[in-house]
Amino acid sequence: MKIVMLGAPGAGKGTQAIKIAEKYNIPHISTGDIFRANLKAGTELGLKAKVYMDQGLLVPDELTTGLVVDRIQQEDCKNGYVLDGFPRTIPQAECLTAALNDLNDALDFALNIDVPDENIVNRMSGRRACPKCGATYHIAYAAPKKEGICDSCGETLIQRDDDKPETVQKRLDVYHAQTQPLIDYYENEGILKNVDGTKNLDEVFAQIIEVLEA
Ligand code: AP5
Ligand code: MG
Repeated sequence: MKIVMLGAPGAGKGTQAIKIAEKYNIPHISTGDIFRANLKAGTELGLKAKVYMDQGLLVPDELTTGLVVDRIQQEDCKNGYVLDGFPRTIPQAECLTAALNDLNDALDFALNIDVPDENIVNRMSGRRACPKCGATYHIAYAAPKKEGICDSCGETLIQRDDDKPETVQKRLDVYHAQTQPLIDYYENEGILKNVDGTKNLDEVFAQIIEVLEA
């Protein structure tokens, strides 16, 4: 099963992608996580990406597309994958379609998690992330068992640098200008499925399963 997750920043793409990846035993590929891991490791890619991420802007397509096209051809992707945060622009989507065409392959679903802007800032201000294993929490909606500590690995949770309210607003503006057009793109490809992302975590996941197994 080859899936791309669409939705605004904070819509719950990462939260749901992890659950999908676990249920279907396929890799979860998040470009945001890849950039953050590179930054932590101090690579050139990480340092370049940080300049854009900190401003709420998109990392240029030429730093992004090649890495995903390589990643989806690795052995663990042969039964499918969940792409989270990619594609983010029409050129990225076109490159992905072309690369899959060359491989005689195609996506199965584009899942759009629909959440209005009003809900987003609240979600982002309460998000906490594990810098070690990447798990995501919310202080009110998905709290860890022990405050400030990751359930999976025991690391101290942090707030992402780009979750400050002013950066979130910029990310939302960028989303509407550059990423939202992908909804029409995948509608035209005939694989778009909309999910109401304002429901609670388990209800959103139940809607997704219904779509994937229809
Ligand atoms: P990325 O890391 O992809 O960030 P994003 O798209 O802005 O999305 P988020 O990770 O912020 O949100 P999410 O939808 O995953 O929500 P989450 O599940 O955490 O990208 C970061 C940056 O990297 C970009 O700004 C860009 O600079 C760069 N980048 C990445 N990919 C790129 C690309 N392809 N091209 C160019 N640049 C790229 O949920 C949010 C919070 O809400 C959590 O606290 C969660 O617990 C909570 N929550 C989730 N679902 C629910 C629910 N149903 N009810 C209540 N709370 C919920
Ligand atoms: Mg995410």
